[in-house]
Amino acid sequence: MASNIRGLHHTAFRCRDSEATRQFYEDFLGLPLAETLEIGITKTGDQSQYLHTFYQMDDGSFMAFFEAPEMPFSFKDQHDFDMHIALEVPHDHMMAMKAKAEAAGMECRGVSDHGFIHSIYLRDPNGYVVELTSKTDIHDEAVDPTINGARDKLDRWTKTKREAGVGPDQDPGFGRVETGAEVIGTAGERL
Ligand SMILES: [Fe+2]
Repeated sequence: MASNIRGLHHTAFRCRDSEATRQFYEDFLGLPLAETLEIGITKTGDQSQYLHTFYQMDDGSFMAFFEAPEMPFSFKDQHDFDMHIALEVPHDHMMAMKAKAEAAGMECRGVSDHGFIHSIYLRDPNGYVVELTSKTDIHDEAVDPTINGARDKLDRWTKTKREAGVGPDQDPGFGRVETGAEVIGTAGERL
């Protein structure tokens, strides 16, 4: 069933410094800077200026950034669970980028075996985790919801929470969710 959503056009994030960001995404990762929008410059010349940059991936989609010097933003080293960006690469390229990152003294975690994908984890100059991930042979089967019970697992989780009185507006930190299900790690391991 087609959703009519063709794919990711761009995903946009704040950046500290557009040039430092370009050095990571273009010089290190190899994504060409495709467009730079100078926003807020008017004929009177007295408006705030923001810079919006776009880096193109092989499928035509973009990673985009806003540098907005007058608009406060708290940069921090993000935890993977809170936000990360996963870019698909061939396995050989992932290994080459791991070697390149380590040679440059950059943060690089992995290779992590998640079963359907293998991944390494880098960090960009803005604190965002950038995952480079390679599909394994079982990928397409693993993400087939007619086989893997994705909806059943979500429903079991939600039922347990609701029965414990935890509604959708509850912020994280309330405690454990004990669904009684066998817990399987992201690499398929039994926990
Ligand atoms: Fe990921």
